Amino acid sequence: MYRNVSSKIAWLIALLIAAGVSAVSTAPADAADFGPVKSMKVDAKKAALGKRLFFDPRLSGDAAISCSTCHIPSKGFSDGLALAKAYPGSEGFRNTPTLINAAQKAAWFHDGRIGTNLNDVTRESITETYSMNMDMRLMQERVKQDPIYVKMFKDAGYGEPSNGSVRKAIPEYLKTLTSRGAAFDGGKMSDAAQRGFELFKGKAGCAQCHSGSRFTDDQPYNTGVPNNPEIWSNPLRHITYVAFSMFMGIENYMNIRRDVGAHIRSHKSDGSDIGKFMTPSLRELKQTAPYMHNGMIATLADVVAFYNRGGGNDVNQDPRIKPLGLSSQERNNLVAFLEALSGDALTGPEHVWKDKINVNYVAISDWLQKKN
Ligand code: HEC
Ligand code: HEC
Repeated sequence: MYRNVSSKIAWLIALLIAAGVSAVSTAPADAADFGPVKSMKVDAKKAALGKRLFFDPRLSGDAAISCSTCHIPSKGFSDGLALAKAYPGSEGFRNTPTLINAAQKAAWFHDGRIGTNLNDVTRESITETYSMNMDMRLMQERVKQDPIYVKMFKDAGYGEPSNGSVRKAIPEYLKTLTSRGAAFDGGKMSDAAQRGFELFKGKAGCAQCHSGSRFTDDQPYNTGVPNNPEIWSNPLRHITYVAFSMFMGIENYMNIRRDVGAHIRSHKSDGSDIGKFMTPSLRELKQTAPYMHNGMIATLADVVAFYNRGGGNDVNQDPRIKPLGLSSQERNNLVAFLEALSGDALTGPEHVWKDKINVNYVAISDWLQKKN
């Protein structure tokens, strides 16, 4: 997209010169593209309900984990681990992404496999065996037992608790998680960060993919991030990945020894789409280390060093990832810029359910007959 724009501009400049008009401005086409992330319109009562559900372990099969077990507010709604945990008894195979600004994405998960809406993402997060392993029908009945939920669903305009309204309320809450307070947005960047921004848009070429207010084009690329061997040396992670690959229809899934990424969407027979992952947002990175779909890069300095080396050595690596020849000063400036994209932690009561969730209510014995 960026390439098309630049080639169009180059063509236009050539045309102007040919016409005897000198081209004055060479400002990059995307300079005005960056800005604060706009907050989203939210229904307060539905979002408050979604917030309680997000922090409630009863949404998982054995009531051991909630969404917030992996998406931890003080860690930018990620978990600080290279690879995520999973439902008790298994282990995950991907890095937990931040949920800040996630409601504004065009496609979700590191491979972008859900391109519809957060309702579907919520369903997948609740029901998949490796995340919360919950049967939606059981969840609905469990939620109906709790008088506080019965009241909250009614007040939110949903009527009786249902699995459908759980899948609406949680996304409403996710919409409240918007970045704010970054030095970049407040015009408070240090000189080093300012120079880093120029490199980001120019010589380092980062803005070719990390564009817009969230610093992502929501597209998948192969940047050559090395495979995480832990997925194959830890049987619990391996078995989780094998099951996932089987469900996703990955060819030769018993023998595959790498995370194929967005290949599960396109299944190109020549395999040229293997190892593509979605461009992540670059907001709130200070809270969300380690980095990449598999947590293989520990720090922002290491990320910049990785790009400076020209990425990894994957046969499918995108041609835009190439050695950059940045000096150590320039690399430091880029890191300072990336840090300036982090803002306030979303850890106050506005974003976190602070009350204890009381589970000591009297269970309804004849719930099949019960009408609220
Ligand atoms: C066991 C840890 C775990 C739990 C519990 C969990 N998640 Fe996640 N979440 C992840 C991981 C790991 C990913 C990335 C998965 C992938 O790319 O395949 C993810 C991805 C997501 C995404 C997509 C983000 C993006 O940038 O594409 C959303 C939204 C999300 N989770 C919301 C939720 C919600 C809502 C719940 C509770 C209903 C939940 N998660 C429970 C670990 C977890
Ligand atoms: C060709 C597109 C492309 C270019 C150019 C690019 N990136 Fe990325 N970036 C990606 C993709 C795709 C990922 C995710 C890779 C993965 O998960 O394995 C990523 C990941 C990252 C991450 C990790 C974020 C996280 O939450 O894990 C950072 C930081 C980053 N890039 C910064 C940069 C910087 C700085 C530059 C310029 C030097 C740059 N990128 C250039 C596509 C690109």
